[in-house]
Amino acid sequence: MIPPGDLVAGRSMRHRTPDQVLGPYFPQERARVEQSDLTGADGIAQGEIIEVTGRILDRNGDPVSGARLTIWQANAFGRYRHPGDTSGLPLDPNFLGNAEFRSGNDGGYRIKTVKPGAYPAGPDWVRPPHIHFEIVGRFERLITQLYFPDEPLNATDRLLNSVLRPDLLIATVVSPRYRISHRVMNFDIVILRG
Ligand SMILES: [Fe+2]
Repeated sequence: MIPPGDLVAGRSMRHRTPDQVLGPYFPQERARVEQSDLTGADGIAQGEIIEVTGRILDRNGDPVSGARLTIWQANAFGRYRHPGDTSGLPLDPNFLGNAEFRSGNDGGYRIKTVKPGAYPAGPDWVRPPHIHFEIVGRFERLITQLYFPDEPLNATDRLLNSVLRPDLLIATVVSPRYRISHRVMNFDIVILRG
């Protein structure tokens, strides 16, 4: 397994999470309230409910608290809640397509959402399931995407494979210590200074 960082002067330095393009579906309006549950407007969103947990870290592995996170993603059918998505795939009235919140004192965050569907991005390109992230710290801004493990479409995705370390963009499955009805994924995000 490739280590998450390099030893520099005897100290483990983490790799910055690779950048990914913003894409055409960045939310047009800021969320009215900070919250990180996308699964229910008036009912329960369709698809596989998942949680994504992780921490925002700096290069030294120290937590970055108070970073502002914006996330956006397609629904379970592969459709964005965005006027620019004219794919004709089904909308889900109960799925909130984006959310905003801040990392906690330990740099941690937790999202409740559905696993996004794959969607066509061109005549010969289907994007694998992914979640878009924007992280705004005090010093820097990172735009990236989370991918899911064991997805056949990952192998041919142009954006995922445009970075030197695609493995750093793939979430890992967490084994919950308590009985839980849905999968929990982990995705730590490294920015350089915080
Ligand atoms: Fe996307």
